Amino acid sequence: MGSPFSPHSAQTHLIAAVFSVVLVIAGVIFLVVAAGVIYSSVRYRSRGVTAAEPRQVFGSRKLEILWTVVPLAIVTGLFVITVRAMVLIDAPQESGQTPDLVITGHQWWWDARYPNGALATGDIHIPAARRLLVRIESTDVIHDFWVPELARKMDAVPGRPSYIWLEADAPGTYSGACSEFCGAQHAWMRFRMIAEPEASFNAWLLRQIQPLAEPTGAAAEGARLFRTKKCEDCHALGKKGPDLTHVATREFLGAGISRNTPENLALWLTNPQAAKPGNRMPDTPLTANERAALLAYLESLQ
Ligand code: CUA
Repeated sequence: MGSPFSPHSAQTHLIAAVFSVVLVIAGVIFLVVAAGVIYSSVRYRSRGVTAAEPRQVFGSRKLEILWTVVPLAIVTGLFVITVRAMVLIDAPQESGQTPDLVITGHQWWWDARYPNGALATGDIHIPAARRLLVRIESTDVIHDFWVPELARKMDAVPGRPSYIWLEADAPGTYSGACSEFCGAQHAWMRFRMIAEPEASFNAWLLRQIQPLAEPTGAAAEGARLFRTKKCEDCHALGKKGPDLTHVATREFLGAGISRNTPENLALWLTNPQAAKPGNRMPDTPLTANERAALLAYLESLQ
């Protein structure tokens, strides 16, 4: 998981700056209070029954003014820098502008739709050094989209889309996660943002909408089973399960729960609940041959 202290966008640079200021002020106050508590408990500790009461102080105008003015100044300063940062960080919520990307939270994975109809699951590609307007949606419960290095957090609320600026100042891979508890597999709702130079991003984007070559051999039999066993009823855009059009190109399965190896992919066919407990995929009885054919088909989906 990326750290909010290594910002890679204009927005997260501002967030990190405000966070650091708050952290330093809070740190200084903590040290002053802790030092006061330690000093007083040592200096004024009980020295037996004969010890006299310490000198009692009743009111001090100087102190009253000091501890009113200093916190007020701190809070006012924080208010000003926070509002200034918010104005620069937040995307317009009702601009009517078409978003560059629509990212949707599901129990439990994310996908991203692009204006040209391309769809990404797990690894979301973006062009580097370009600010994107992103719409955040949810199909079921409240999730929260967060890529600490690239953008502010944003709740994904069913029925109420919201917008963020998403931007990476340099090509790279930035990890993200869901940061609102959303059920049993909340922890495995991870994704990666892959920021690429404009040219390779555009090439990737085109590849996503080009039709795949007709599968041959065992993969062709797998493709037939994918239809007749009703896999495709769920595993397509807008359906209950994640789209599998390019599943073989993914590095991870189940939103980060396992690496995309043939063994791990096969587990989804034999025992989906063992692959990711609580997910909505039902058991589908398959013979060993059918499993092998389906696996060959899935592995061919580049
Ligand atoms: Cu989705 Cu937590």
